[in-house]
Amino acid sequence: MARDILKTLKAEHDELRSLFEELNGTTDRAAKTRTELLAKIDKGLLPHAKWEESVFYPAFAERASRDGLKTHAEAIAEHHAVEHSVMPEVHDADVQTPQFAGRAKVFGEFIDHHAKEEEKTMFKMARELFSAEERAAFDEQYEAWKQSDEGMAAVAEAAQVTGAGSALRN
Ligand SMILES: [Fe+2]
Ligand SMILES: [Fe+2]
Repeated sequence: MARDILKTLKAEHDELRSLFEELNGTTDRAAKTRTELLAKIDKGLLPHAKWEESVFYPAFAERASRDGLKTHAEAIAEHHAVEHSVMPEVHDADVQTPQFAGRAKVFGEFIDHHAKEEEKTMFKMARELFSAEERAAFDEQYEAWKQSDEGMAAVAEAAQVTGAGSALRN
């Protein structure tokens, strides 16, 4: 099957959704499980979000219609809220508390909402705006970016901002 960035991003959304489902099912006593699940979420989400912001969203905006630009602005505002408010609050909470459970639930709801908007609106538009060849090239570029100095620096910086910190280095 041909590579397609939209399929890769959708698969990553689904992976995050299932991690949040697991996280929501934990009890306040499951400190280790919660810590591990949160680290997996951070590790999956930060490269995804940073690549979207630095490569995919700008490429999308260059070709988008007025409606596309609106959905682009919406996506950026959501990324910003998650990075600067939702995630720091989750990381600030002690994993063994109901405060953590509540904040983690909100985090998962934000991600699910955002992912749905991307899938139903932005990716749908992107399928028209980018050829199959371009979508395959994006997919390869994304894989390389994750291993690049640039990609790793962007993720490390986001890890600081969000409070994900050192959990991401493993
Ligand atoms: Fe996004
Ligand atoms: Fe996404």
